[in-house]
Amino acid sequence: MEEHNYRLCALADVPGNGGLRVVLATGTPVAVFKAGSDVYVVDDLCTHNGASLSKYGEVEGHVLECTWHSAKFDL
Ligand code: FES
Repeated sequence: MEEHNYRLCALADVPGNGGLRVVLATGTPVAVFKAGSDVYVVDDLCTHNGASLSKYGEVEGHVLECTWHSAKFDL
């Protein structure tokens, strides 16, 4: 697996317990979250029913909850 480094956003732009939507050059939307001192980038799409995780996601610890129907994901 090849490793690539990309600058997605400024860390200060990522909300404390919510997500920031970033659209990659390929057109793929991703959601950036902070959890403590860690930063995670996931698809901006809840696998339950397709909600935007950057809009409906809330982070507590390392758990990302989609608040639309309360699905939880381990970041
Ligand atoms: S769409 Fe995310 S929990 Fe249902």
